[in-house]
Amino acid sequence: MPKIHSDLINKEFWYKDITLIPNRLPDFERDFVDLTTNFTKKIKLKTPFVSSPMDTVTEAEMAILMALYGGIGVIHYNFMTIEEQMEEVKKVKKFEAGFVFNPVVLSPQNTIKDVYGVNKRYGFFSVPITKDGTLESELVGIVTHRNVRYRKDMDTRLKDIMTTKEKLIVAHRKDTVDKNDLEKANKIIKERNLDTLPIVDDSFRIVALVTDSDLKKNERWSLATKDENKQLKVFVAAESRLGLAKKRIEQASAVGADGIVIDASVVFKEQLDIAKFSKENFPELEVVLGNVDSAEMVREVMEKASKYCDCLRVGIGPGTACITQQELGTGRAQASAVWDCAQETKRLAQKYGFMPIIADGGIKIPDLVGQDVQKPGDITKALALGAQTVMMGALLSGLDESPGEKEFDYKENRMIKKYRGMGSLEAMSKRAGLRYGVEKAKIKTAEGVVMKIPYRGSGHGFLPELIAGVKQSFQKQGFRSVAELQENVDVRLISK
Ligand code: XMP
Repeated sequence: MPKIHSDLINKEFWYKDITLIPNRLPDFERDFVDLTTNFTKKIKLKTPFVSSPMDTVTEAEMAILMALYGGIGVIHYNFMTIEEQMEEVKKVKKFEAGFVFNPVVLSPQNTIKDVYGVNKRYGFFSVPITKDGTLESELVGIVTHRNVRYRKDMDTRLKDIMTTKEKLIVAHRKDTVDKNDLEKANKIIKERNLDTLPIVDDSFRIVALVTDSDLKKNERWSLATKDENKQLKVFVAAESRLGLAKKRIEQASAVGADGIVIDASVVFKEQLDIAKFSKENFPELEVVLGNVDSAEMVREVMEKASKYCDCLRVGIGPGTACITQQELGTGRAQASAVWDCAQETKRLAQKYGFMPIIADGGIKIPDLVGQDVQKPGDITKALALGAQTVMMGALLSGLDESPGEKEFDYKENRMIKKYRGMGSLEAMSKRAGLRYGVEKAKIKTAEGVVMKIPYRGSGHGFLPELIAGVKQSFQKQGFRSVAELQENVDVRLISK
């Protein structure tokens, strides 16, 4: 049983107000710690990190980064169109795969410039060439990086530089795709030293593609969060208005997203109908509802919608860019909200089944002075209090992979990136007003601010350090897994 100090019962407390007492003798190396948890009822993550659906945090690049390190990203909906958001999903799905179904194809009449266009949009160079530039016609060649890398004339037609059909090594679908035998395809790639292996049908139409770069990526990213076809998993945020969300959910399913986060500062009743619509029509999509912050709210959502919901997002007003608590006088200290909600989901588990929760917001970044210090301690505390995962905005927004450019701030004499609360007037000038239920209101009350975040460089440096820090915190307390931590943790108040 987890222990929580009596002074914390029925009190409001933040992560900074508590400490986790080490009371075991560890007998294992830090890297034996296994951070695997459930993000949703079905989806497990090897790293319990989720990036926030915010327009200065998660688009494709961040979602790819998160999934490569075992977490997951939620793509925001503050784009001008649904299609723009779905393009980001496609980029994540096309980043890495086993069999690449529906590969991007071009025709012999396209030019090298078009190949660079594909690379810019999706990040790869290998493009099968079909007779009419669609998947319906016969494969006539292929263009890979080798064909274009030293070419200067961007208007050269692909028919003049492609590797033609006669020289291509291909595999038949019945030996590979139909048997779901990726190993076989990979073996051909290795033995024949190929960049790309097209898989074709009897009419020599392309069915799928297997690439050497995917093979290498699959071997390299051991923590990655992937679907059955070895594509990275990704979620999208949907608005909490049934009419609008329907179309978005339909399209999210069509492009292969793995789930939706019905995104609002507080669970609007309408969200329950959206969750129902999504589960009934697109059962393959996992559904996250939020935000909640009390046992009462958890109970209401679980009573009314536990069948339609796969995870609850906890936190009202604790975010780094939030001003809800100061401005509106409502919200909770995040650590106590996580504890109460987790306790309630556990209590209700027998009746409604397991319901994982995300601790959303308030994982503190260091202030301007100690800008390079990371704070894995807050993450361990959130997990210890019963969250399965943590959702982060500010902490990730200073990375190269977040949207927006880094800039030099002369006043502060350092590099920064912009981070804006979705409840800031700036973000609400687009679609974010929906998140706060004020999209039609003429007068908008800000619940968030725009701020500067220290630039932190590449996520490929930052995330491994953060993961190592969390594992070290587990090791210090003698816990090898999240379940062990949650079962045995000893939480005490730090006296002031
Ligand atoms: P952190 O602390 O990681 O928090 O930056 C990210 C979470 O903050 C929430 N969020 C907001 N909450 N006003 C709010 O009250 C806002 O403007 C705002 N913007 C984001 C959101 O839950 C996010 O995941």
